[in-house]
Amino acid sequence: MPKVALITGGAGFIGCQVAKRLLAAGLEVVVFDNLHPQVHVGSGLPASLPKAVRFVAGDVTLPANWQTLLKLTRPDVVVHLAAETGTGQSLTEASRHAGVNVLGTAQLLDAMSAAKHVPERFVLASSRAVYGDGAWQDERGVRFYPAGRTRAALEAKQWDPPAPGGGLARPVAASAADTTPNPISVYAATKLTQEQVLAAWCRAFGSALNVLRLQNVYGPGQAVGNPYTGVLTYFATRAVAGQGLEVFEDGQIVRDFVFIDDVADALTAAALGSTSGCQTVDIGSGAPTTILEVAKTMARLAGSPAPVVSGKFRDGDVRAASCTIAAAGALLGYSPKVPLDVGLAKLLDGVRTTLAK
Ligand SMILES: NC(=O)c1ccc[n+]([C@@H]2O[C@H](COP(=O)([O-])OP(=O)(O)OC[C@H]3O[C@@H](n4cnc5c(N)ncnc54)[C@H](O)[C@@H]3O)[C@@H](O)[C@H]2O)c1
Repeated sequence: MPKVALITGGAGFIGCQVAKRLLAAGLEVVVFDNLHPQVHVGSGLPASLPKAVRFVAGDVTLPANWQTLLKLTRPDVVVHLAAETGTGQSLTEASRHAGVNVLGTAQLLDAMSAAKHVPERFVLASSRAVYGDGAWQDERGVRFYPAGRTRAALEAKQWDPPAPGGGLARPVAASAADTTPNPISVYAATKLTQEQVLAAWCRAFGSALNVLRLQNVYGPGQAVGNPYTGVLTYFATRAVAGQGLEVFEDGQIVRDFVFIDDVADALTAAALGSTSGCQTVDIGSGAPTTILEVAKTMARLAGSPAPVVSGKFRDGDVRAASCTIAAAGALLGYSPKVPLDVGLAKLLDGVRTTLAK
């Protein structure tokens, strides 16, 4: 009998790619997803969802939907992706984000308990957002955690958080082993809570848990019409239309953009793994870049106008996010393969194809 993998949110950007890989590895794959209208335009399943999956429509927050699902299948592995993902949106729609991300995770676990079923393994797609502004270091290399950038500082164009003793500060790449989480959005708080809720249950009942804190995932397949997620998909939509790209602050916001295939490989390796206990690792490209650099590369590839640095800012944006990937290499054999310019070209092709339909 093949093992059964359940992917919650499996009809989404990341889920479709994980489903494809788990099927290729010989697993039976069940996708549980409510086809959220903010993510899925029109009716019907996304074209990128493999036909061989068993699709069950349902909402992770509804016990009755879980009951129906667990009558159909008893998964060996659960890859938990279903989530509300709008970081900015989460500050004004806190209950919606907490409802799906926190209560939805708790409903998942209660449903397993009610069905007297303990999966061997859970894999959670968590987020780099849990680190908030993350750790920084001053000119002497002393690490500190910024208190957050105030609106007054941003209006005065003081983009980097100040070092406590004065002087310049530099961001430190996050690592689950030694960077303290410090969520600064409701979304981030719900992702950290998902980690903790799952870890408590798995510890109590003996399931293995791999938490993967994903940096900014990009690539073809991310919802083009969803204004709340994916800066590169937004940039690509403008660039293929020959429009300019507006870059906030001084252009030097740092992100680690990791291509969808590399992320799907990491989640698949975690789902197929044989580790026990609970491990948390970071998944990124390991090669952080500034938004200005990525916008310039995108404009060059698309033949669109050069980006403009506007000096505008958004409340709640962190200045820098990147991570170390050595722990994921050791745990999952993770080694990202897609360089940024190659990934951006694929994203542009994907967006062109989507918009031509
Ligand atoms: N894309 C990124 O850059 C990124 C970065 C860090 C973490 N993550 C995490 O990865 C996971 C997947 O993200 P994605 O980029 O594929 O997002 P996505 O929005 O493309 O996919 C999420 C899927 O979950 C489904 N869903 C939403 N609410 C649901 C509910 N109540 N019940 C059942 N299904 C529901 C949606 O219909 C969608 O198919 C999320 O947990 C997200 O927090 C993503």
